[in-house]
Amino acid sequence: MNVLGIETSCDETSAAVVSDGRYVLSNVVLSQTDLHAPYGGVVPEIASRSHVESLPGVIREAVVNRSGSTWNDLDAVAVTYGPGLSSSLLVGITSGKGLALRLNKPLCMINHLEAHIYSIFLGEDAPQFEDVCPFVALVVSGGHTCLVRVEGLGHYMLLGQTVDDAAGEAFDKGASLLGLRYPGGPAIEEASQGGKVDFVRFPRGRQRKEKLKTCGLDADLCFSFSGLKTALLYYLKERPLPAALAKAMAPLREVSKEVSSLAASYQEAIVEALVERCGKAVRDEKYLAAVGGVSLNKRLRSRMSELSKSIGVKLMLATSEYCADNAAMVAGLAGTGQGIWGAEAMAMDVQPNLGIGVGNG
Ligand code: KG4
Ligand code: ZN
Repeated sequence: MNVLGIETSCDETSAAVVSDGRYVLSNVVLSQTDLHAPYGGVVPEIASRSHVESLPGVIREAVVNRSGSTWNDLDAVAVTYGPGLSSSLLVGITSGKGLALRLNKPLCMINHLEAHIYSIFLGEDAPQFEDVCPFVALVVSGGHTCLVRVEGLGHYMLLGQTVDDAAGEAFDKGASLLGLRYPGGPAIEEASQGGKVDFVRFPRGRQRKEKLKTCGLDADLCFSFSGLKTALLYYLKERPLPAALAKAMAPLREVSKEVSSLAASYQEAIVEALVERCGKAVRDEKYLAAVGGVSLNKRLRSRMSELSKSIGVKLMLATSEYCADNAAMVAGLAGTGQGIWGAEAMAMDVQPNLGIGVGNG
């Protein structure tokens, strides 16, 4: 079964063809980073306009030029319907519906968070779903940070989530305060090289328990990153960086020792918060996964690997090209039969605030 996947939930325009839910025949990802960088974050109007302009070409590239198959070889069209930016999602689902009608193939609507989790099952060497369930997945991206117990395909239990900013958002906002470029995750990771992780002890993503609004979830498994960003802001108010550096969106060679150590300390606070909650979330599971754009972070990967060894579970990470937003994870998940199909899918609208797991559908 060959599925064409379409992903436009945020600022990546992506299309992919995946065979049998596993074999990625093509995965084209057009990043809009350069368009949003001057604003220090994603501008929804720019994102959706750019999806409108680029998506037809990206789809054609994925199907005609890179997959080794033709339009007639496609068996279904799958598209992300949420969560994400509504105007961006709309471009994807409208194109998906149009293409499914034109090709006379079934349409499948996919949850972006479930697709991120599925990213670890893409590729010939990836584990088989049934061999590793149940497992705990840390979903860490620009818009989401949550812990999910995956009991089987389509069976997710939300264990914890951020009560304010997502981890990726904390990276992006921290980078902006430090005068580093957007997106902030890779910029902070780069700047932190050679920096001292104990230069400043930033808060570890936790507020007092009684203050956390966890919506019934275990407070020990929830995250809070807004205090971290505020702590960096106050630090910089008291000890401003040299003006030129603070404004310049400095390339790496100009990053001072102080910025490098601030970046390292800030990154450490985010990583420790994530790793600590993962340690608490794992109970009788034998596998732990980290997915989403932030799971590209090398410090997070190495601390997760240490944790998994110390608690005796196996760590599963996606291949790097499937960590950040991409359509292969969408097509892959649809290829297993998951998602919402057919007439019901055709009648659906975008769901910008879609969650994952029990009580969140
Ligand atoms: O999964 P993703 O592409 O999009 C969303 O679904 O949000 O994640 C994007 C986020 C951004 O916040 C970006 O700063 C972060 O992932 N990111 C990283 C790294 N690479 C991307 N964060 C930390 N370290 C990285 N190397
Ligand atoms: Zn994402």
